[in-house]
Amino acid sequence: MLPGDGIGGEVTAEALKVMRAAGAAVEFTEFDWGAERYLKDGTTVPVDGFAMLARDYDAILVGAFGDPRIPSNIHAREILLGMRFRMDLYANVRPVKLLDLALCPLKNAKLEDVDFVVVRENTEGLYADVGGVFKQGTADEIAVQEDVNTRKGVERIVRYAFEYALANGRKQVLMSDKSNVMTHAHGLWLHVFWEVAKEHKDIEPRHMLADALAMMMVREPHQLDVIVTNNMFGDILTDLAAALQGGLGMAASGNLHPGRTSMFEPVHGSAPPLAGKNVANPVGAILTAAMMLAHLGLAHEAEKIEAAVLAAVQQKKTTEDVGGKLGTREAGEWIATRVAGS
Ligand code: NAD
Ligand code: IPM
Ligand code: MN
Repeated sequence: MLPGDGIGGEVTAEALKVMRAAGAAVEFTEFDWGAERYLKDGTTVPVDGFAMLARDYDAILVGAFGDPRIPSNIHAREILLGMRFRMDLYANVRPVKLLDLALCPLKNAKLEDVDFVVVRENTEGLYADVGGVFKQGTADEIAVQEDVNTRKGVERIVRYAFEYALANGRKQVLMSDKSNVMTHAHGLWLHVFWEVAKEHKDIEPRHMLADALAMMMVREPHQLDVIVTNNMFGDILTDLAAALQGGLGMAASGNLHPGRTSMFEPVHGSAPPLAGKNVANPVGAILTAAMMLAHLGLAHEAEKIEAAVLAAVQQKKTTEDVGGKLGTREAGEWIATRVAGS
């Protein structure tokens, strides 16, 4: 466990409580990577940290990273993006499912309308940190940030999306890009997508430009099933998607590379203004823990946790951001008690 910064520690504590209540046969070690450690001794990731995680652990549960005392965000990038890149966790899987109609901001939506998955490329694109500045601080300042798209990277994430659809009873894979403008980078996405689609006759392939997709997510989310997209669009679209299911406090994610140690984190960040106040919604972290347990082969425990979260939402045993009156600990406790009794 890497609880991290801000509300990270509060929400992962509840996730741990709930996993224990489910009787999950999992041992945990907690690491203090994050803002405090960095400010104390300058360490972001200890020497060989990523190799140690990959060697000694089956999965990693993360809270969040980000602290206003570190405006450069260097520690968050080195730890979080470090795990994604250096451990090659190329598939960022972000399920979007509305649990209760009361949580949905859309007018006239039905409960079943919001049920899709975003598969976000997680190791390249605009996140590759390739670029530089020239004539900095002058009137002629130039800043370049390259969008890096490799045949290997694009092909494996598109393949992952089709295989995910097959394995999870989904019918459609929609690839989203801006190939009308980013002709080189997203031209690659487009032709690789149609190539891989031909190998999957039972899954309907669909292509949509990202601006149009943003609108569809709001107006016709029932059309969506599995979405595959690049790193940056995936980041932006999954905050929008989180809003459809009740906000960032509800959204879970996994950072995966089949066969390797994978990392699981709620979609939300460290929410500094909420930290230490017992108000953060622990559900995103709890559903993330369930996703991790399912990944580790503990499907029964994962299902018990998901059922308890559903009950909590339906009975408003939740934090205020989703209409309840409970604190972080009390909401976690309610879910843990429900899980223990199931
Ligand atoms: P944020 O997700 O922390 O907060 C965005 C909004 O959502 C805020 O209004 C916040 O109050 C609300 N929110 C988030 N989580 C919530 C929860 N569990 N319960 C209730 N409300 C919740 O994003 P931000 O404010 O843009 O970023 C804050 C810091 O977190 C930054 O340093 C950023 O880089 C970092 N961040 C980290 C991660 C991560 O570690 N995976 C993800 C996103 C942002
Ligand atoms: C996310 C976050 C991260 C991202 C930040 C904290 C680097 O927003 O996981 O969605 O941009 O990927
Ligand atoms: Mn994000």
